[in-house]
Amino acid sequence: MIVSGKAKVAGVMGWPVGHSRSPRLHGFWLDRYGVDGAYVPLSVPPERAAEAIRALPALGFRGCNVTVPHKEVAAATVDRLDDSARRAGAVNTVVVLEDGTLEGRNTDGFGFLENLKAGARGWRADAGPAVVVGAGGAARAIVAALLDDGAPEVLLVNRTRERAEQLAADIGGGVRVLDWVSRETALAEAALLVNTTTQGMAGHPPLDLSLERLPASAVVTDIVYTPLMTPLLHDAHARGNRVVDGVGMLLHQARPGFAAWFGVEPEVTEELRRFVLGA
Ligand SMILES: NC(=O)c1ccc[n+]([C@@H]2O[C@H](COP(=O)([O-])OP(=O)(O)OC[C@H]3O[C@@H](n4cnc5c(N)ncnc54)[C@H](OP(=O)(O)O)[C@@H]3O)[C@@H](O)[C@H]2O)c1
Repeated sequence: MIVSGKAKVAGVMGWPVGHSRSPRLHGFWLDRYGVDGAYVPLSVPPERAAEAIRALPALGFRGCNVTVPHKEVAAATVDRLDDSARRAGAVNTVVVLEDGTLEGRNTDGFGFLENLKAGARGWRADAGPAVVVGAGGAARAIVAALLDDGAPEVLLVNRTRERAEQLAADIGGGVRVLDWVSRETALAEAALLVNTTTQGMAGHPPLDLSLERLPASAVVTDIVYTPLMTPLLHDAHARGNRVVDGVGMLLHQARPGFAAWFGVEPEVTEELRRFVLGA
């Protein structure tokens, strides 16, 4: 891909950033849509993250994605937050506006919902309560997105109960926190089950959760995508539940940033999915 002196530039800021699939993902779209642009990894240590984000307009960047561990710093550094970032308390997409100011957005919730809707045809947030396991950074965006999209209630279980209570308080309604020991009881009410913990990831033990009480009609999704079929998805599929893997969330969350920086609404296709997974 050849870029000109007029190329639009964006990137992904993280520490470390070498494992990020975002350059490959955006690179695929830049090539596919023939955009004169570049999307680069920005390896920035935590103590320089705020400075690096503030420097984006001076460097002529259109903006950037922000990944671990900079999402909260980004939220505190940008000039304004949109609703999604305010609700999530974190920023994963920074856009340099026409006047040179910085807007922080959070597209994780959008990516999560789009992935579910694409992967489980006919699924609707208002079908019934959602059980969300985990209350970390990703869970915040997902809980907010589910409620905003019409979920009647989110039943939230986290190993550390206080963290779930803080999340519920910050979201301000619609979240019922349950004890970790009650997590299997909660499943009986679920129309959707979401794993947002790191459990099930390669190198981590499987999520400790028996699906015995889960209705057969419930959709099960995991935001962990290495491996694609986590032990949770494997078990759910084996007992007849519809399952949706997590890589689509990564692909769909990238769409709004690409559109804002490069001016093209990109599509998530099977070819893109295979290309990103082939990294
Ligand atoms: N598909 C995507 O696009 C996407 C996007 C974002 C994140 N992710 C993935 O989602 C996962 C979570 O990310 P995050 O940023 O939310 O992480 P995080 O903020 O560090 O939260 C980690 C969560 O995992 C729980 N946990 C950790 N070890 C556990 C254990 N042994 N038993 C039970 N729960 C445990 C934590 O519970 P405690 O509060 O008790 O510690 C917490 O709820 C990561 O694997 C990440 O790669 C995927």
